[in-house]
Amino acid sequence: MLEQALREIEAAPDPQQLQDIRVRYLGKRGMVTQELKRLGALRPDERREAGQRINRLKSVLEEAIHERREALEREAVRRQLESESVDVTLPGARLKQGGLHLMTLVTHRLIEIFVSLGYEVAVGPELETDYYNFTALNFPQEHPARDTQDTFFTTDGRVMRTHTSPMQVRYMESHRPPFRLIVPGRAYRNEAVDVTHEAQFHQLEALVVGERITMADLKGAITEMATALFGRDTRTRLQPAYFPFVEPGAEFAIWWTNPRTGEQQWLELGGCGMVHPNVFRAVGYEGVTGFAFGFGIERLALIPFGIPDIRHFYQSDLRVLNQFRGAV
Ligand code: PHE
Repeated sequence: MLEQALREIEAAPDPQQLQDIRVRYLGKRGMVTQELKRLGALRPDERREAGQRINRLKSVLEEAIHERREALEREAVRRQLESESVDVTLPGARLKQGGLHLMTLVTHRLIEIFVSLGYEVAVGPELETDYYNFTALNFPQEHPARDTQDTFFTTDGRVMRTHTSPMQVRYMESHRPPFRLIVPGRAYRNEAVDVTHEAQFHQLEALVVGERITMADLKGAITEMATALFGRDTRTRLQPAYFPFVEPGAEFAIWWTNPRTGEQQWLELGGCGMVHPNVFRAVGYEGVTGFAFGFGIERLALIPFGIPDIRHFYQSDLRVLNQFRGAV
């Protein structure tokens, strides 16, 4: 019986079955208990010897059951730990890496180009006063040129700036010439939105003021920018145009070769000219000349990258955004 019982105890797969074995041998009606009960039928000398034997058997079984129980418990803990453990050799879950928006990349590139040419960078308020957006820039009240820059007005008469040019005036009010300045930033117009028009867009403004600054310096500055962007083959074109805050005024375009298609074309970018004397008068400057130009940054991102619709820039569509990570 001892051998048999020990084998069963050793093989018990879990605490419940171990308990069953215990009951079968050592319980009230267990085999060992039964034997103890039978001792009464024996002669006293036999009874003593048998009694000792059965008690030894009992304590051997109890010890074996105790050990088996502890072994099962240790095993359960081990399994639990194993199931909760972390496999540090598994490859990690990769985080998706973001990137800068194409507009940001192009703007940074432009800033880099102009900073390398010695320009300062300033930014200004998007909600402007009528004075800075129009009046100080030589758009008098009721001037028809205001109609070309319809925008959004607040009830207290302020305006969402229609261009970055108001920063020309703000900057000149607080700085003395000579200086070279660029102003990147958002502008707004009351546009019917379509593939090439949005009610909000970005401009880069440039203003250079000093002694004897000329139209040749203006053309040189635009050409420097064009060369930095498109390489040596580029050309710059100025065509007469009217903006109240410059005289003479022009629209400028850059000759551009698309490296993907080989196609060559003029990329009409924006306006430029020599700062109008009335603008210098508004900020109290005398004895200086200067040039200014300004253009929409979207065009510079849309056309070279072949983006068919300006609205893609503002829809946060990852299929669009992912294409231009690190593109500039
Ligand atoms: N501010 C003008 C526009 O938005 C562009 C411009 C800037 C023209 C500087 C001349 C000089 O249309």
